[in-house]
Amino acid sequence: MRYSVKTISAKQAHDIRHPVLRKGKPREACMFAEDNMGTTLHIGLFANEQHIGTVTLIENLRPGFHETIQYQLRGMAVLEDFRSKGLGKLMVDEGERMLKERGAQRIWLNARIKALNFYRRLGYEICSKEFEVPIFGPHFQMTKLLQ
Ligand SMILES: CC(C)(COP(=O)(O)OP(=O)(O)OC[C@H]1O[C@@H](n2cnc3c(N)ncnc32)[C@H](O)[C@@H]1OP(=O)(O)O)[C@@H](O)C(=O)NCCC(=O)NCCS
Repeated sequence: MRYSVKTISAKQAHDIRHPVLRKGKPREACMFAEDNMGTTLHIGLFANEQHIGTVTLIENLRPGFHETIQYQLRGMAVLEDFRSKGLGKLMVDEGERMLKERGAQRIWLNARIKALNFYRRLGYEICSKEFEVPIFGPHFQMTKLLQ
């Protein structure tokens, strides 16, 4: 199997985001208001030609951080059959590389409890108290300096 990572459209991101993160809900439920902003970056993961993962990077300043270019990582999803192979890491690594090229200084995200260790291994640190996201349960914010 040949795995590759490249930028994709918002529509392609929804094709994976919807079944993984908003299963059973209407397709619109997986869309973000920022999906079509000019600065938003959608990244896709492919196994040969099959689209199997996505993550979206949205330029967004988080209160409390002072860097001028910050991105929020959202919509992180890998199809179940392809998890725990290091492919999520591959996609985030490539996203971080692209953000550095754009001069982004910090990345931050809202992590489900189940994903905390995944992000920890990638160098992210918790930077908030636990908070509740309705329907999706407890989350922490995590962050990493890019440069
Ligand atoms: C979170 C998610 C995107 C991670 O994707 P992934 O492709 O499984 O990520 P990786 O394979 O890089 O890492 C996952 C785990 O597999 C382990 N792993 C990596 N390569 C491995 C290998 N070759 N063999 C065995 N385990 C491996 C990693 O150590 C990691 O363990 P950890 O989560 O306990 O730290 C995926 O689980 C997912 O889509 N989950 C559902 C949606 C979700 O929760 N999204 C995040 C919302 S905040």
